[in-house]
Amino acid sequence: MASGLSKPVTLSNAPRSILGEGPIWLPDTGVLYWVDILGDRVHSYRLSSGVAESIKVGPYPSCVMPNDDGNLVVTVKDRVILVNPRDGSVIRTLATVNEGAGNRFNDCKCDPMGRLVAGTMDMGERNPTGSLYILDSAGLRKILGSVTISNGIAWSGDGSVMYYIDSPTRRVTVFKYSKGEGALDGVIGYFDLSSFPGVPDGMTIDSEGYPWVALYGGGRVLRINPVNGNVVDQVELPAQFTTSCTFGGVDLKTLFITTATDRSRQTSGPDGYVFSLNLNIKGTVVNKCRF
Ligand code: BGC
Ligand code: CA
Repeated sequence: MASGLSKPVTLSNAPRSILGEGPIWLPDTGVLYWVDILGDRVHSYRLSSGVAESIKVGPYPSCVMPNDDGNLVVTVKDRVILVNPRDGSVIRTLATVNEGAGNRFNDCKCDPMGRLVAGTMDMGERNPTGSLYILDSAGLRKILGSVTISNGIAWSGDGSVMYYIDSPTRRVTVFKYSKGEGALDGVIGYFDLSSFPGVPDGMTIDSEGYPWVALYGGGRVLRINPVNGNVVDQVELPAQFTTSCTFGGVDLKTLFITTATDRSRQTSGPDGYVFSLNLNIKGTVVNKCRF
């Protein structure tokens, strides 16, 4: 672990999730947000005080993003909603998808222009019935079909490349991205991760342009060279179901990693907690949505 300056430790006083996912760091407030998809909660944690709060949002809150008006954009089962972070009340529904009872939204991110890119998945995790969508002021449109478990999304620093994960493929697909239009412009390549344990899940990108990918079932996060796809670093965790990661802290050099339990919540141990570790690499801040 060349870049690791410390060992991953659990965030003290932070709640345990059944399926913890999608951490984001908001530098304006010094607050980390994440979701518990199966616990119907959006959690927050103020790093300076260690005070955690939770709001009930659901069903299946799969992703939370900051909106530029101070509210939160949250994907739930088949909807994208704007939520008041103070009390969890729904301000309005931004979009609805019609994919049937067997599908739900999963990971999302705001693109460099403030659109939301959000994917769906087969809850049975078997069939390619999911899609990837873009939402902006013109409405919701599908930009990719035949996805099974839509997962990690990240952009290169200049926004011209979008990294994307459909978990069962066990790879990261590298798309050319048209920032002006909000459209995928063809596949540039793939990073094959099938030699690593687990399946790729959530993803962030550091300030040097290297994607960091959590391996669900693999108990680790990988750092990938974007030029040749080589895994140049990995952080191992004492929890098997590592779901996603984001950089935060005052200097953006702390990596926060969400994890899931085996979904029964029966096990004791570190599964389901958020971990943090200090690195000597700086991350990037998530884009805000503009709705
Ligand atoms: C999904 C889980 C899935 C996992 C691994 C997560 O993003 O929410 O349901 O098991 O990815 O593919
Ligand atoms: Ca995920």
